[in-house]
Amino acid sequence: MKCILMNKNTEVLTAEYEPELKIFIEIIAIKNIDYAPLILKQSYERDENIREELSDWFKGRGIPSFRDNLDLLLAKLDVSAPSELLDKAFGLSLSDQYWIKPFDSTVEYKDINFFAHDFDDADFTNATFSNSNDYSTKISLISPNNTTDGRLKKTWIIEDGKRYLLKGGYKTEVMQPFNEVLASMISERLGFFHVPYTLEVIHNKVVSKCPCFIHEHTELVSAYQILHKNCHKENAYEEYIQILEQHGIKNARTMVENMFILDYLILNEDRHLNNFGIIRNVETLEWESVAPLFDNGESLNIIDYNEEELIINGQGRFFYKVDKFDTIIPQIQNKKRFDLSNLEGVAEEFEDVLHQYQSVTLMTDRRINKICTLLYSQIEKLKKALE
Ligand SMILES: Nc1ncnc2c1ncn2[C@@H]1O[C@H](COP(=O)(O)OP(=O)(O)OP(=O)(O)O)[C@@H](O)[C@H]1O
Ligand SMILES: [Mg+2]
Repeated sequence: MKCILMNKNTEVLTAEYEPELKIFIEIIAIKNIDYAPLILKQSYERDENIREELSDWFKGRGIPSFRDNLDLLLAKLDVSAPSELLDKAFGLSLSDQYWIKPFDSTVEYKDINFFAHDFDDADFTNATFSNSNDYSTKISLISPNNTTDGRLKKTWIIEDGKRYLLKGGYKTEVMQPFNEVLASMISERLGFFHVPYTLEVIHNKVVSKCPCFIHEHTELVSAYQILHKNCHKENAYEEYIQILEQHGIKNARTMVENMFILDYLILNEDRHLNNFGIIRNVETLEWESVAPLFDNGESLNIIDYNEEELIINGQGRFFYKVDKFDTIIPQIQNKKRFDLSNLEGVAEEFEDVLHQYQSVTLMTDRRINKICTLLYSQIEKLKKALE
Protein backbone atom coordinates (compact mmCIF):
# COMPACT_ATOMS: atom_id res chain seq x y z
CA MET A 1 0.00 0.00 0.00
CA LYS A 2 1.46 3.34 -1.02
CA CYS A 3 1.08 5.81 1.81
CA ILE A 4 2.25 9.11 3.23
CA LEU A 5 3.73 9.45 6.69
CA MET A 6 2.10 12.59 8.03
CA ASN A 7 3.00 14.76 11.01
CA LYS A 8 -0.35 16.42 11.60
CA ASN A 9 -0.83 18.34 8.29
CA THR A 10 2.73 18.03 6.99
CA GLU A 11 3.81 15.29 4.60
CA VAL A 12 7.01 13.72 5.91
CA LEU A 13 7.66 11.05 3.31
CA THR A 14 5.93 8.63 0.98
CA ALA A 15 6.53 4.93 1.33
CA GLU A 16 5.27 1.50 0.41
CA TYR A 17 3.72 -0.22 3.42
CA GLU A 18 3.17 -3.96 3.46
CA PRO A 19 -0.04 -4.44 5.49
CA GLU A 20 0.44 -8.20 5.91
CA LEU A 21 3.94 -7.94 7.36
CA LYS A 22 3.32 -4.55 8.99
CA ILE A 23 6.56 -3.15 7.65
CA PHE A 24 7.62 -0.49 5.18
CA ILE A 25 9.25 -2.09 2.18
CA GLU A 26 10.33 1.04 0.32
CA ILE A 27 10.80 4.74 0.92
CA ILE A 28 9.54 6.36 -2.24
CA ALA A 29 10.22 10.06 -1.60
CA ILE A 30 11.30 12.30 1.23
CA LYS A 31 9.06 15.35 1.52
CA ASN A 32 9.80 17.18 4.78
CA ILE A 33 12.36 15.28 6.79
CA ASP A 34 12.46 17.97 9.48
CA TYR A 35 8.97 16.90 10.48
CA ALA A 36 9.91 13.24 10.79
CA PRO A 37 10.15 11.54 14.18
CA LEU A 38 13.46 12.80 15.55
CA ILE A 39 15.01 9.36 15.52
CA LEU A 40 14.37 9.05 11.77
CA LYS A 41 15.56 12.54 10.97
CA GLN A 42 18.84 11.92 12.78
CA SER A 43 19.44 8.67 10.92
CA TYR A 44 18.64 10.37 7.64
CA GLU A 45 21.18 13.08 8.39
CA ARG A 46 23.80 10.42 9.02
CA ASP A 47 23.03 9.11 5.54
CA GLU A 48 21.64 5.88 6.88
CA ASN A 49 18.95 3.92 5.13
CA ILE A 50 15.88 4.82 7.12
CA ARG A 51 13.50 2.20 5.74
CA GLU A 52 14.21 -0.27 8.50
CA GLU A 53 14.25 2.46 11.10
CA LEU A 54 10.83 3.60 9.89
CA SER A 55 9.43 0.09 10.34
CA ASP A 56 10.97 -0.19 13.80
CA TRP A 57 9.66 3.18 14.83
CA PHE A 58 6.19 2.29 13.54
CA LYS A 59 6.22 -1.03 15.34
CA GLY A 60 7.40 0.75 18.49
CA ARG A 61 4.19 2.76 18.44
CA GLY A 62 2.17 -0.35 19.17
CA ILE A 63 1.39 -2.22 22.35
CA PRO A 64 4.62 -4.02 23.29
CA SER A 65 4.88 -7.80 23.44
CA PHE A 66 5.68 -7.49 27.15
CA ARG A 67 2.41 -5.71 28.04
CA ASP A 68 0.97 -7.23 31.19
CA ASN A 69 -1.74 -9.79 30.35
CA LEU A 70 -1.37 -9.18 26.62
CA ASP A 71 -2.84 -12.52 25.54
CA LEU A 72 -6.12 -11.89 27.27
CA LEU A 73 -6.36 -8.38 25.83
CA LEU A 74 -5.62 -9.58 22.29
CA ALA A 75 -8.22 -12.32 22.58
CA LYS A 76 -10.81 -9.78 23.68
CA LEU A 77 -9.85 -7.48 20.81
CA ASP A 78 -10.02 -10.45 18.45
CA VAL A 79 -6.55 -9.91 16.99
CA SER A 80 -3.56 -12.22 17.16
CA ALA A 81 -0.75 -9.66 17.62
CA PRO A 82 -0.43 -6.01 18.65
CA SER A 83 1.03 -5.26 15.21
CA GLU A 84 -2.43 -5.89 13.74
CA LEU A 85 -3.60 -2.76 15.52
CA LEU A 86 -0.86 -0.50 14.19
CA ASP A 87 -2.49 0.67 10.99
CA LYS A 88 -6.03 0.69 12.32
CA ALA A 89 -7.20 4.26 12.92
CA PHE A 90 -4.36 5.56 10.69
CA GLY A 91 -1.83 4.78 13.42
CA LEU A 92 -2.89 7.89 15.33
CA SER A 93 -1.80 8.36 18.93
CA LEU A 94 -2.42 10.76 21.82
CA SER A 95 1.32 11.19 22.50
CA ASP A 96 2.20 12.66 19.09
CA GLN A 97 0.62 13.72 15.77
CA TYR A 98 1.97 11.15 13.30
CA TRP A 99 -0.36 9.17 11.09
CA ILE A 100 -0.33 7.10 7.94
CA LYS A 101 -2.38 8.41 5.07
CA PRO A 102 -3.23 6.09 2.16
CA PHE A 103 -1.68 7.76 -0.91
CA ASP A 104 -4.88 8.41 -2.83
CA SER A 105 -6.99 9.31 0.17
CA THR A 106 -8.34 12.81 0.78
CA VAL A 107 -8.70 12.32 4.52
CA GLU A 108 -7.29 15.11 6.68
CA TYR A 109 -5.89 15.27 10.20
CA LYS A 110 -8.76 17.48 11.32
CA ASP A 111 -11.26 14.78 10.35
CA ILE A 112 -9.70 11.94 12.28
CA ASN A 113 -7.39 12.91 15.17
CA PHE A 114 -8.28 11.69 18.65
CA PHE A 115 -7.62 15.02 20.34
CA ALA A 116 -10.67 16.51 18.64
CA HIS A 117 -12.66 13.35 17.91
CA ASP A 118 -14.10 11.14 20.57
CA PHE A 119 -13.50 7.40 20.61
CA ASP A 120 -15.26 4.57 22.31
CA ASP A 121 -13.40 4.00 25.58
CA ALA A 122 -15.70 1.88 27.75
CA ASP A 123 -15.22 -1.49 26.04
CA PHE A 124 -11.45 -1.18 25.81
CA THR A 125 -11.32 -0.18 29.47
CA ASN A 126 -13.33 -3.25 30.40
CA ALA A 127 -11.19 -5.47 28.20
CA THR A 128 -8.08 -4.10 29.91
CA PHE A 129 -9.04 -4.11 33.55
CA SER A 130 -11.78 -6.69 33.97
CA ASN A 131 -10.84 -10.30 34.64
CA SER A 132 -13.86 -11.60 32.82
CA ASN A 133 -13.39 -13.98 29.94
CA ASP A 134 -16.07 -12.30 27.88
CA TYR A 135 -14.88 -12.29 24.29
CA SER A 136 -18.28 -11.54 22.80
CA THR A 137 -18.17 -7.71 22.82
CA LYS A 138 -16.96 -6.26 19.55
CA ILE A 139 -14.42 -3.65 20.65
CA SER A 140 -13.89 -0.62 18.44
CA LEU A 141 -10.39 -0.44 17.00
CA ILE A 142 -10.85 3.19 16.02
CA SER A 143 -9.01 4.32 19.08
CA PRO A 144 -5.71 5.70 20.38
CA ASN A 145 -5.49 2.57 22.51
CA ASN A 146 -3.92 0.81 19.51
CA THR A 147 -0.80 2.91 20.03
CA THR A 148 0.10 2.89 23.70
CA ASP A 149 3.58 1.97 24.81
CA GLY A 150 4.69 0.47 28.11
CA ARG A 151 4.49 -2.63 30.20
CA LEU A 152 1.52 -1.80 32.39
CA LYS A 153 -2.10 -2.33 31.46
CA LYS A 154 -3.42 0.99 30.33
CA THR A 155 -6.23 2.70 28.49
CA TRP A 156 -7.15 6.17 27.29
CA ILE A 157 -10.51 7.43 28.41
CA ILE A 158 -12.51 10.62 27.85
CA GLU A 159 -14.10 12.50 30.72
CA ASP A 160 -15.84 15.83 30.25
CA GLY A 161 -14.15 16.09 26.87
CA LYS A 162 -10.64 15.64 28.33
CA ARG A 163 -8.33 12.69 27.60
CA TYR A 164 -6.93 10.75 30.56
CA LEU A 165 -4.63 7.73 30.78
CA LEU A 166 -5.56 4.99 33.26
CA LYS A 167 -2.76 2.63 34.35
CA GLY A 168 -2.93 -0.45 36.54
CA GLY A 169 -0.41 -2.30 38.67
CA TYR A 170 1.81 -5.06 37.29
CA LYS A 171 0.29 -8.55 37.68
CA THR A 172 -0.67 -8.86 41.36
CA GLU A 173 1.36 -5.83 42.45
CA VAL A 174 -0.82 -2.92 43.55
CA MET A 175 1.73 -0.24 44.38
CA GLN A 176 2.38 1.39 40.99
CA PRO A 177 -0.70 3.63 40.99
CA PHE A 178 0.06 4.75 44.54
CA ASN A 179 3.66 5.54 43.67
CA GLU A 180 2.44 7.72 40.81
CA VAL A 181 0.31 9.64 43.27
CA LEU A 182 3.18 9.94 45.74
CA ALA A 183 5.37 11.35 42.96
CA SER A 184 2.68 13.95 42.28
CA MET A 185 2.44 14.82 45.98
CA ILE A 186 6.19 15.31 46.25
CA SER A 187 6.46 17.20 42.96
CA GLU A 188 3.64 19.48 43.98
CA ARG A 189 5.36 20.32 47.27
CA LEU A 190 8.78 20.85 45.68
CA GLY A 191 7.47 22.76 42.68
CA PHE A 192 8.60 20.18 40.08
CA PHE A 193 6.89 20.22 36.67
CA HIS A 194 4.89 17.00 36.70
CA VAL A 195 1.87 15.11 35.44
CA PRO A 196 -0.73 15.07 38.21
CA TYR A 197 -1.80 11.49 38.97
CA THR A 198 -4.90 10.59 40.98
CA LEU A 199 -6.51 7.26 41.88
CA GLU A 200 -9.63 5.49 40.65
CA VAL A 201 -11.12 2.10 41.41
CA ILE A 202 -12.10 0.07 38.35
CA HIS A 203 -13.25 -3.54 38.44
CA ASN A 204 -12.13 -3.66 42.04
CA LYS A 205 -8.58 -2.57 41.14
CA VAL A 206 -6.90 0.68 42.01
CA VAL A 207 -5.55 2.41 38.91
CA SER A 208 -3.78 5.72 38.40
CA LYS A 209 -5.33 8.41 36.26
CA CYS A 210 -3.52 11.32 34.64
CA PRO A 211 -4.43 13.88 32.00
CA CYS A 212 -2.86 13.71 28.56
CA PHE A 213 0.01 16.20 28.54
CA ILE A 214 0.13 16.42 24.75
CA HIS A 215 -2.30 18.50 22.72
CA GLU A 216 -3.00 19.03 19.03
CA HIS A 217 0.13 21.13 18.53
CA THR A 218 2.69 19.03 20.37
CA GLU A 219 4.45 15.69 20.53
CA LEU A 220 6.47 13.87 23.16
CA VAL A 221 10.06 13.21 22.05
CA SER A 222 11.75 10.73 24.35
CA ALA A 223 15.28 11.07 25.69
CA TYR A 224 16.01 7.87 23.76
CA GLN A 225 15.13 9.56 20.47
CA ILE A 226 17.19 12.59 21.42
CA LEU A 227 20.33 10.67 22.36
CA HIS A 228 19.81 7.59 20.21
CA LYS A 229 23.29 6.35 19.14
CA ASN A 230 24.90 8.33 21.96
CA CYS A 231 22.80 6.96 24.77
CA HIS A 232 25.48 4.50 25.94
CA LYS A 233 28.19 7.15 26.12
CA GLU A 234 29.87 7.81 29.43
CA ASN A 235 28.84 11.49 29.34
CA ALA A 236 25.30 10.95 28.01
CA TYR A 237 23.87 13.08 30.81
CA GLU A 238 25.90 16.20 29.96
CA GLU A 239 25.31 15.63 26.29
CA TYR A 240 21.57 15.44 26.88
CA ILE A 241 21.54 18.71 28.86
CA GLN A 242 23.61 20.37 26.17
CA ILE A 243 21.27 19.27 23.37
CA LEU A 244 18.25 20.55 25.31
CA GLU A 245 19.96 23.88 25.97
CA GLN A 246 21.00 24.21 22.33
CA HIS A 247 17.36 23.77 21.38
CA GLY A 248 16.38 26.61 23.66
CA ILE A 249 14.82 24.64 26.49
CA LYS A 250 14.80 26.85 29.53
CA ASN A 251 16.11 25.47 32.80
CA ALA A 252 16.97 22.15 31.17
CA ARG A 253 19.50 21.20 33.83
CA THR A 254 17.27 22.24 36.72
CA MET A 255 14.35 20.26 35.35
CA VAL A 256 16.39 17.12 34.75
CA GLU A 257 17.99 17.41 38.19
CA ASN A 258 14.49 17.70 39.68
CA MET A 259 13.60 14.40 38.06
CA PHE A 260 16.58 12.67 39.63
CA ILE A 261 15.81 14.18 43.03
CA LEU A 262 12.29 12.81 42.76
CA ASP A 263 13.71 9.42 41.80
CA TYR A 264 16.02 9.52 44.80
CA LEU A 265 13.16 10.31 47.16
CA ILE A 266 10.86 7.58 45.94
CA LEU A 267 13.63 5.12 44.95
CA ASN A 268 12.42 4.95 41.35
CA GLU A 269 14.15 2.08 39.56
CA ASP A 270 12.65 2.64 36.13
CA ARG A 271 13.84 6.00 34.77
CA HIS A 272 14.76 4.54 31.41
CA LEU A 273 15.17 6.81 28.41
CA ASN A 274 11.58 6.43 27.28
CA ASN A 275 10.31 7.60 30.65
CA PHE A 276 11.36 11.21 30.15
CA GLY A 277 11.93 13.61 27.29
CA ILE A 278 10.81 16.89 25.83
CA ILE A 279 7.75 18.41 24.23
CA ARG A 280 8.11 19.65 20.68
CA ASN A 281 5.71 21.83 18.75
CA VAL A 282 4.73 19.94 15.59
CA GLU A 283 4.04 23.08 13.60
CA THR A 284 7.02 25.28 14.48
CA LEU A 285 9.27 22.34 15.52
CA GLU A 286 10.25 24.42 18.55
CA TRP A 287 11.35 22.42 21.59
CA GLU A 288 8.94 23.91 24.09
CA SER A 289 9.93 22.38 27.41
CA VAL A 290 10.98 19.20 29.10
CA ALA A 291 8.07 16.80 29.41
CA PRO A 292 6.35 16.91 32.79
CA LEU A 293 7.51 14.09 35.07
CA PHE A 294 5.59 10.90 34.28
CA ASP A 295 5.82 7.14 34.90
CA ASN A 296 7.15 7.02 38.44
CA GLY A 297 5.42 3.80 39.49
CA GLU A 298 8.31 1.37 39.92
CA SER A 299 9.44 2.81 43.20
CA LEU A 300 9.67 2.24 46.96
CA ASN A 301 11.11 -1.23 46.82
CA ILE A 302 8.33 -2.57 44.69
CA ILE A 303 10.60 -5.11 43.04
CA ASP A 304 12.20 -6.52 46.16
CA TYR A 305 9.48 -6.16 48.73
CA ASN A 306 9.80 -8.54 51.60
CA GLU A 307 7.14 -8.71 54.31
CA GLU A 308 9.74 -9.70 56.91
CA GLU A 309 12.58 -7.27 56.38
CA LEU A 310 13.07 -3.72 55.24
CA ILE A 311 15.42 -4.12 52.30
CA ILE A 312 16.76 -1.12 50.47
CA ASN A 313 18.83 -2.58 47.70
CA GLY A 314 17.06 -0.92 44.82
CA GLN A 315 19.12 0.83 42.21
CA GLY A 316 18.47 3.97 40.29
CA ARG A 317 18.92 4.59 36.62
CA PHE A 318 21.08 7.43 35.55
CA PHE A 319 20.90 7.36 31.77
CA TYR A 320 22.40 3.97 30.92
CA LYS A 321 24.05 3.52 34.29
CA VAL A 322 22.26 1.49 36.90
CA ASP A 323 23.69 2.35 40.27
CA LYS A 324 22.99 3.20 43.89
CA PHE A 325 20.67 6.16 44.35
CA ASP A 326 23.41 8.01 46.22
CA THR A 327 25.39 8.40 42.99
CA ILE A 328 22.74 10.88 41.83
CA ILE A 329 23.68 13.48 44.44
CA PRO A 330 27.11 14.55 43.08
CA GLN A 331 25.39 15.40 39.77
CA ILE A 332 23.26 18.09 41.42
CA GLN A 333 24.90 21.47 40.85
CA ASN A 334 23.08 23.68 43.35
CA LYS A 335 22.26 21.52 46.31
CA LYS A 336 20.76 24.41 48.27
CA ARG A 337 17.85 25.13 45.97
CA PHE A 338 15.54 22.39 47.28
CA ASP A 339 13.35 23.28 50.24
CA LEU A 340 12.83 19.85 51.74
CA SER A 341 10.92 21.30 54.68
CA ASN A 342 8.03 21.32 52.22
CA LEU A 343 7.99 17.53 52.53
CA GLU A 344 7.00 17.73 56.18
CA GLY A 345 4.12 15.29 56.73
CA VAL A 346 4.18 13.82 53.22
CA ALA A 347 4.95 10.29 54.46
CA GLU A 348 1.96 10.50 56.84
CA GLU A 349 -0.24 11.85 54.07
CA PHE A 350 0.81 8.97 51.83
CA GLU A 351 0.16 6.51 54.63
CA ASP A 352 -3.41 7.83 54.86
CA VAL A 353 -3.89 7.31 51.13
CA LEU A 354 -2.64 3.72 51.36
CA HIS A 355 -5.00 3.04 54.28
CA GLN A 356 -7.91 4.63 52.47
CA TYR A 357 -7.75 2.01 49.69
CA GLN A 358 -6.79 -0.95 51.87
CA SER A 359 -10.14 -2.70 51.47
CA VAL A 360 -9.45 -2.89 47.72
CA THR A 361 -5.70 -3.50 47.71
CA LEU A 362 -5.63 -5.80 50.76
CA MET A 363 -2.22 -4.31 51.52
CA THR A 364 -1.09 -5.29 55.01
CA ASP A 365 -0.60 -2.70 57.75
CA ARG A 366 2.93 -3.99 57.99
CA ARG A 367 3.67 -3.19 54.37
CA ILE A 368 2.10 0.24 54.60
CA ASN A 369 4.17 0.94 57.65
CA LYS A 370 7.36 -0.23 55.96
CA ILE A 371 6.72 1.78 52.81
CA CYS A 372 6.17 4.95 54.79
CA THR A 373 9.19 4.31 57.01
CA LEU A 374 11.25 3.88 53.88
CA LEU A 375 9.92 7.10 52.40
CA TYR A 376 10.49 8.99 55.61
CA SER A 377 14.07 7.72 55.89
CA GLN A 378 14.77 8.59 52.27
CA ILE A 379 13.62 12.18 52.86
CA GLU A 380 15.89 12.42 55.90
CA LYS A 381 18.75 10.91 53.93
CA LEU A 382 18.34 13.44 51.16
CA LYS A 383 18.32 16.30 53.65
CA LYS A 384 21.74 15.16 54.87
CA ALA A 385 23.06 14.48 51.39
CA LEU A 386 22.18 17.99 50.21
CA GLU A 387 23.74 19.73 53.20
N1 LIG B 1 -0.21 11.69 30.36
C1 LIG B 1 0.30 11.32 29.18
N2 LIG B 1 0.09 12.04 28.07
C2 LIG B 1 0.60 11.67 26.86
N3 LIG B 1 1.34 10.57 26.68
C3 LIG B 1 1.60 9.80 27.76
C4 LIG B 1 1.11 10.13 29.06
N4 LIG B 1 1.53 9.20 29.95
C5 LIG B 1 2.24 8.32 29.23
N5 LIG B 1 2.28 8.66 27.93
C6 LIG B 1 2.93 7.92 26.82
O1 LIG B 1 2.63 6.55 27.02
C7 LIG B 1 3.82 5.79 27.20
C8 LIG B 1 3.57 4.72 28.25
O2 LIG B 1 3.20 5.31 29.47
P1 LIG B 1 3.98 4.97 30.80
O3 LIG B 1 5.44 5.18 30.59
O4 LIG B 1 3.34 5.75 31.89
O5 LIG B 1 3.62 3.42 30.92
P2 LIG B 1 4.35 2.17 31.62
O6 LIG B 1 3.60 0.98 31.23
O7 LIG B 1 4.45 2.48 33.08
O8 LIG B 1 5.76 2.19 30.95
P3 LIG B 1 7.07 1.29 31.31
O9 LIG B 1 7.09 0.18 30.33
O10 LIG B 1 8.16 2.31 31.11
O11 LIG B 1 6.93 0.85 32.74
C9 LIG B 1 4.88 6.81 27.63
O12 LIG B 1 6.16 6.37 27.29
C10 LIG B 1 4.44 8.03 26.84
O13 LIG B 1 4.88 7.91 25.50
MG1 LIG C 1 7.09 4.09 30.71
